[in-house]
Amino acid sequence: MTLRNIILHPDPRLKTICKPVAAVSDDLRRLADDMLATMYDAPGIGLAAPQVGVLSRMIVMDCIKEDAAAARPMVLLNPEIVWSSEELNVYEEGCLSIPDHFADVERPAQVTIRWLGLDGKPEEERFDGLWATCVQHEIDHLNGRLFIDHLGPIKRQMITRKMEKLKREKARA
Ligand code: NI
Repeated sequence: MTLRNIILHPDPRLKTICKPVAAVSDDLRRLADDMLATMYDAPGIGLAAPQVGVLSRMIVMDCIKEDAAAARPMVLLNPEIVWSSEELNVYEEGCLSIPDHFADVERPAQVTIRWLGLDGKPEEERFDGLWATCVQHEIDHLNGRLFIDHLGPIKRQMITRKMEKLKREKARA
């Protein structure tokens, strides 16, 4: 297992519409393990393949709180939102590609997601609460969309400028 490097915003790879996963391979299973390890290490509750530079429709997540009994690592290939509630919910979101920035984002409170598991079998499940927010945030990543794209232009540009500065400082270090 290898921890992968998380790409920081702004980066064209984070603005790309990712390609569907065509087949489950050993490489893909390795990537899923690496992404879960990278997510837990960060620590975070979700990670999308483009954030580690792989432009494929794959996400991992685990929204179980650390102090809860058992983890629930999930790997979703080609996830699709097949139903969203009219009821909305606001969560303060963050992103491993935009560290130290948080903002309220409004999204459907419940969603039904269809995806392929690592065994190649179709799955479907309804998510709510933090899981619903997280899965929508991660699917956004597969469509080149970040949580700051849900904010107004002034807030978005402010965060982007701070991130550009952070990346310049990192490059010099
Ligand atoms: Ni994110």
